[in-house]
Amino acid sequence: MKVLFVSLGNICRSPLAAGILRNKLNERNYDAEIESAGFEPYHIGLEVEQRTISIAEKHGINIEKHGMRLFSTEDFDTYDRIYVMDQKNYRDAIDMARNEEDKKKVDFVMNAIEPGVNKIVPDPFYGTSSDFEKVFIKLDEACELIAESIIQEEQNKA
Ligand code: 4NP
Repeated sequence: MKVLFVSLGNICRSPLAAGILRNKLNERNYDAEIESAGFEPYHIGLEVEQRTISIAEKHGINIEKHGMRLFSTEDFDTYDRIYVMDQKNYRDAIDMARNEEDKKKVDFVMNAIEPGVNKIVPDPFYGTSSDFEKVFIKLDEACELIAESIIQEEQNKA
């Protein structure tokens, strides 16, 4: 199973979501490829935002990342699921989809909790550390259900 989280800058929400899900699957001794990407080129190659690293560390999660990378059309071939944070990410991803199969891979990460409701994970970049904490809580809840669904899906395949 390969999962890609996508946000605008790929330095706050998406690397945090990837770290949270990787951690949850590791705890369950489950191996999956979990990565993240973004749409804005401003931060290409840069490390994850320090406030994101701090909030993850506070919750015992180490975010290892090589640096920001852009979402690409090939990601539709590589990944089974592509989770976005907000409507802009959703539109940007859908605009790059080549066919219905690509489009079906894209969903709002918060739909893991409330399917079809399309709730967003707000951008914390210009916010406070409390905004980063709120983002962490939302992503942690969603990733708990995503981890369960991945394991369920793999068990069904076996
Ligand atoms: P994201 O990070 O949550 O990974 O999309 C961001 C980085 C920069 C900005 C927004 C989000 N920005 O507005 O510059």
